[in-house]
Amino acid sequence: MSYETIIVETHGAVGLVRLDRPKALNALSRQLVTELNAALDAFEADAAIGAIVLTGSEKAFAAGADIREMQPLSYVDLIENDFVAAWERLAAVRKPVIAAVSGFALGGGCELALMCDIVIAADSAKFGQPEVTLGLMPGAGGTQRLARAVGKAKTMDMVLTGRLVDAAEAERIGLVSRVVPAAELMDTALAVAAKVAGLARSSALLAKEAVNRAFETPLAEGIRGERRLFHSLFATEDAREGMAAFLEKRAPAFRNR
Ligand code: CAA
Repeated sequence: MSYETIIVETHGAVGLVRLDRPKALNALSRQLVTELNAALDAFEADAAIGAIVLTGSEKAFAAGADIREMQPLSYVDLIENDFVAAWERLAAVRKPVIAAVSGFALGGGCELALMCDIVIAADSAKFGQPEVTLGLMPGAGGTQRLARAVGKAKTMDMVLTGRLVDAAEAERIGLVSRVVPAAELMDTALAVAAKVAGLARSSALLAKEAVNRAFETPLAEGIRGERRLFHSLFATEDAREGMAAFLEKRAPAFRNR
C-alpha cells in the first residue's frame, strides 16, 4: 500500500511507521491518521511482526492536531464525526509499540506518545499540551493518560499553562522511559523493539494487556486478572522452552506456540 503522509518500513520483526508531513511538522491531519491506522492494522495482522516503532522527524514527532484543518470545523462536525476517536486505534494495538520521539511532541503528538508502551526520547525532545493557548483543551487523552502517567501537579502545570517540558524533565516525571542522545534515537528504539519482538509473542501481548489494565481497574481486580494471564502462559510451549532454556543455561528458541 502506498502512503502520502507516513513512511512504512520493516526491520526484521519490527514494523516502523515514520510520520512524514515535514511542512506541517507532522500535524495529525485526517489523512495522516487514516494512513497511520491502516499501517497499524497491517502490522497487527502480520504474524512476522512482533513490535512496532512510531517516530517522526528530527524536528517534530508531531506538532498536534492539524490546526488548519480543525479551525473551520463546527461543533456539529466534531460530534457527527466523533473527532479524534479514530486516533484511539493506536491505543488499541495489541503488539508492543515503541515511540521514538525527537523534537516537538505537542498536543495530539504528546497524546500519541502517551498511547505508546515504551517512549524513547532524544535529548532534543520537547513535550507539551499547548491546546489552551488555542482556546481549546487536550482532546485525545491528554488530561487522562498524562494525569495517570505523571500525576496531577505536572499535568495541571502542562495542561493549564501549555509549558513545554524538555526531555530531562520528561524522564524525571515519568513521561518517557529513556532519554538518549539524538544521534542514537533510532538505533536505540529499533534495538529495544527488536528485543521485544524476539520475546515469546504470547508473553509480550499478555504482559502489555496486564500493565494497561492497571490504568482501568481497581487494584484487587487487576491483581486477579494478572494472575490468570500469568497462569494462561503455562499453556504455551514457549513458556516451557523459556524456563527449560534458563535451567539448561542456553538461549531460548521461541516459536510463538
Ligand atoms: N497544525 C497545522 N500546522 C502546523 C501545526 C499544527 N499543529 N504545527 C505547525 N504547523 C505548521 C505551521 O503552520 C508552519 O506552516 P507554514 O510554514 O505553512 O506557516 C509549519 O508547520 C512550521 O511551523 P512553525 O513555523 O510554527 O515552526 P516553529 O519552529 O516556529 O514552531 C512549534 C514550532 C512550536 C511546534 C509551532 O509550530 C507550534 O506551536 N505548533 C502548534 C502546536 C500546537 O498548538 N499543538 C496543539 C494542536 S491542538 C491538538 O492537538 C488538539 C488535540 O489534543 C486533539
